[in-house]
Amino acid sequence: MEIKVWDYLKEYENEKHEIHAAIEKVLNSGRLILGDSVKNFEEAFAGYCGVNFGVGVNSGTDALFLGLKALGVGAGDEVITVANTAVPTVSAIVATGAKPVFVDINPATYLMDTTLIETVITEKTKCILPVHLYGQCVDMKSVNDIASAYGLKVLEDCAQSHGASFNGKKAGSMSTLSAFSFYPTKVLGGFGDGGMIITGDENLYKKLRRLRFYGMEKTYYSEEHGYNSRLDELHAEILLRKLSHLDEYIARRKEIAYVYDQSLAMTGISLPETITGNEHVYHLYVCRHPKRDRIISQLKTKDIFVNINYPWPIHTMTGYRYLGYEIGDLPHTEKAANEIFNLPMYPSLTNGEQETVITELRKISDNID
Ligand SMILES: Cc1ncc(COP(=O)(O)O)c(C=O)c1O
Repeated sequence: MEIKVWDYLKEYENEKHEIHAAIEKVLNSGRLILGDSVKNFEEAFAGYCGVNFGVGVNSGTDALFLGLKALGVGAGDEVITVANTAVPTVSAIVATGAKPVFVDINPATYLMDTTLIETVITEKTKCILPVHLYGQCVDMKSVNDIASAYGLKVLEDCAQSHGASFNGKKAGSMSTLSAFSFYPTKVLGGFGDGGMIITGDENLYKKLRRLRFYGMEKTYYSEEHGYNSRLDELHAEILLRKLSHLDEYIARRKEIAYVYDQSLAMTGISLPETITGNEHVYHLYVCRHPKRDRIISQLKTKDIFVNINYPWPIHTMTGYRYLGYEIGDLPHTEKAANEIFNLPMYPSLTNGEQETVITELRKISDNID
């Protein structure tokens, strides 16, 4: 039987009644856009992350874009981030008119190397955008210290880190604004697109509510230029129900990660490392091996499917070559992209399925040289 890198069908089967009840509730409510379900989910999710305000939008990409707009990022500005992220991190920066500036990563954790941030700060730098990749947080103390020394804004990309924490503080609660995605594969994922910006700043909250709704506070009257980026009632109500299971999902992900950690320790495959003080939620369980393409193709012959997040660093992509980076500019990022692969990881992965993955990986790694 095929083992997928990600799947939602068993989870859906287990939660069917709750999900159908959520859909029924919204459809019977007489209100499909910006009603109580969005409001309740915004309050509940922001509260879960430890901040006061949430603004539901239609994707994580829009959460980043509108968050940057709300911080005043635009043409002529530079935003410091990484090149080993989902393209939307960078496309959201470009959409504001600003220029993405990349720093290399720590090769052990794949997270932004915060010691490099100061080397790329210029008079145009407006914001630092750390990505809490794979489920663990960037060292936010260093990011925030640098930001306050240079008067920069900070926006956390939390698309992969719902419920993760750094020194006891939840992802999303460590900067002025933070962006989340509820894309189906995420730690808190819906059944379609969705996102949220969270903040402790009431003025930014009010501005973001306008930005997602054509700049309006009252219908048909724009206070400022805005957009249409609404989380809809159906997804919000479903996500609200799923939020009540988030800690269980995370506990199961950690359990799966622990078993991989223990069982693959002697294989020669590099396993994920967690920074001291971090609570890793394992959105992805990312391994590394110089012969990863052979490992992947041999697993495929056993109907086991893994993934590579991400095979191409953004500065090397045709769409972003105009930024002026050369191959070799971000050596750790580029090397990692050639060696990483992520194993099946989702709460409803069964112990039996995981055992099969481990058994096959052990056999492959014994004969790889
Ligand atoms: C790190 C990161 N940032 C941003 C996004 C964008 O989220 P969405 O797909 O909801 O637009 C994603 C998800 O793809 C992501 O993984």
